[in-house]
Amino acid sequence: MKLGVLISGRGSNLQALIDACANPDFPAEIALVISNRPDAAGLERAIKARLNSQTIDHKAFKDRESFEDELTNALQNAGVELVCLAGFMRVLTPKFTERWAGKAINIHPSLLPSFPGLHTHERAIEAGCRFAGATVHFVSAEMDEGPIIIQATTPILANDDANSLADRVLQAEHEIYVRAVRWIAEGKILIKNGSVSIEGIEDEASYYLPTTKRSV
Ligand code: GAR
Repeated sequence: MKLGVLISGRGSNLQALIDACANPDFPAEIALVISNRPDAAGLERAIKARLNSQTIDHKAFKDRESFEDELTNALQNAGVELVCLAGFMRVLTPKFTERWAGKAINIHPSLLPSFPGLHTHERAIEAGCRFAGATVHFVSAEMDEGPIIIQATTPILANDDANSLADRVLQAEHEIYVRAVRWIAEGKILIKNGSVSIEGIEDEASYYLPTTKRSV
């Protein structure tokens, strides 16, 4: 399956996908990486991996739709079958989300539907949550919403701050994003009445990342 990965920054989730695709058994390949920011560090990762990559700078377009039309053109021209948002920090319009319905996924650093949007780890700590995590979901017209494919969870420790928690959740993000892409590429995922079922392996869609600091 041909992937189009959209990034805005560091690109560590992109790197997880690059590493997974390097395995000949992995059923997907990255056909195109697009950044909306010319200075995104993730672009270097794409170049290093000799991937087809480009910047489509949202600032160069008069509105969201014309920016997204350019994204869609580039993705279509590269033969992309699955769009993977990997730290892509632009709100998408319904025109784009409808064009790619069932063919676009996002990774978000919280246990959705809690904490859509920004500063998820600060907010989870402030709210006194005992667990934090990450979610891979199909993209819908609402930001950080859509049928959930897989979630990872990790305890929030008394001495966690947003950075320590983000580091731990990020490890889990890399694991679950690769799993989700594999399942979609293998045709194991079905969306029915807005929720996802995964053929034969439902249990693997809840991933627990223990902390090393906790003694049981
Ligand atoms: C990741 O934590 C990802 O979950 C988050 O941005 C970070 C990107 O890191 N995405 C969102 O907040 C989307 N709402 P990366 O560039 O190293 O993959």
